[in-house]
Amino acid sequence: MKSTKYTGIFEDYKRRTRYLFTKSLDGKNFFDERDTKEGNSKYIEFSVKRSKLAAAAIKNISMIPIKENQKILYLGAGHGYTPVHISDIIRNGEIFCVDIAPRVVRDLYFICEERKNMIPILADSNKPEQYENRIEKVDVIYQDIAQKNQVEILFKNLKFLKDKGYVLIAIKSRSIDVTQVPKKIYYEVKTQLATKLKIIDFKELDPFERDHCFFVCQKI
Ligand SMILES: C[S@@+](CC[C@H](N)C(=O)[O-])C[C@H]1O[C@@H](n2cnc3c(N)ncnc32)[C@H](O)[C@@H]1O
Repeated sequence: MKSTKYTGIFEDYKRRTRYLFTKSLDGKNFFDERDTKEGNSKYIEFSVKRSKLAAAAIKNISMIPIKENQKILYLGAGHGYTPVHISDIIRNGEIFCVDIAPRVVRDLYFICEERKNMIPILADSNKPEQYENRIEKVDVIYQDIAQKNQVEILFKNLKFLKDKGYVLIAIKSRSIDVTQVPKKIYYEVKTQLATKLKIIDFKELDPFERDHCFFVCQKI
C-alpha cells in the first residue's frame, strides 16, 4: 500500500488499475468493500463509484484539505459511505454528519454507535439553526446534497467554518437545471462560489459520476 499526495488516502494497483484506500480506524468494514491487511492495519477500498471525493482524487484534484484531528461539517451524509472514509482520515477529529432523510440517518446512527468520531444529525442544512447548538467551528465543510439552491445553502453554513477553512462541494448539474448543459451550470456555480470563496480547484467527475463536478474552495 502506497501513500498518495492526499493525507490518509492510499493507493494500490491491480492489473494496471489504480484503487484508493483509507486505513480503517477500528478495523471495521461497514460497506463490504475490498480490504487488505498489512501488519496490524486494515485498508478499506475507497471506491470511485461510490464516493465523489474518491472520484475527485482519482481525477487528480490538486488538494484534499482533510487531515488528522480536524473537525468536519458534512452536509448530505447519506448512509455514511464517504463520511466513514473521512472518519478514517481525521482519526481523533470529529465529523458532524447532517442529513435531512430520517431513514438515511437511522442507518447512520448504527455506524456512529461504533465510530465515536462521527456525530449523526437529523436536520435540514438549509436551516442551520436546527443544529447550530450541536456543532463547533470546523476546519472543512463538505457538501453533497444534490439540491437546486445548493450554493445558497452552503453560504448559510459558512458561519461554522474557521477563517482560512476549506469547502469541498459536489455539484449535480441535473439537480440545478436539467435543461442546461452541465458546463454552463458549472460555470454559473463557480461564479456564485467566487463571490465568497477562493476557488482552488475544480474537476468534472465523468465518467465516475455523470454530470457531476467537484470544487475545492477556501474561505478568505
Ligand atoms: C448523494 S446523497 C449523499 C451521499 C454521501 N455524501 C456519500 O458520499 O456517501 C445526498 C444526500 O443529501 C441529503 N440531503 C438532500 N437535501 C438535504 C438538505 N437540505 N439537508 C441535509 N441533507 C440533505 C439526502 O437525504 C441524501 O442522503
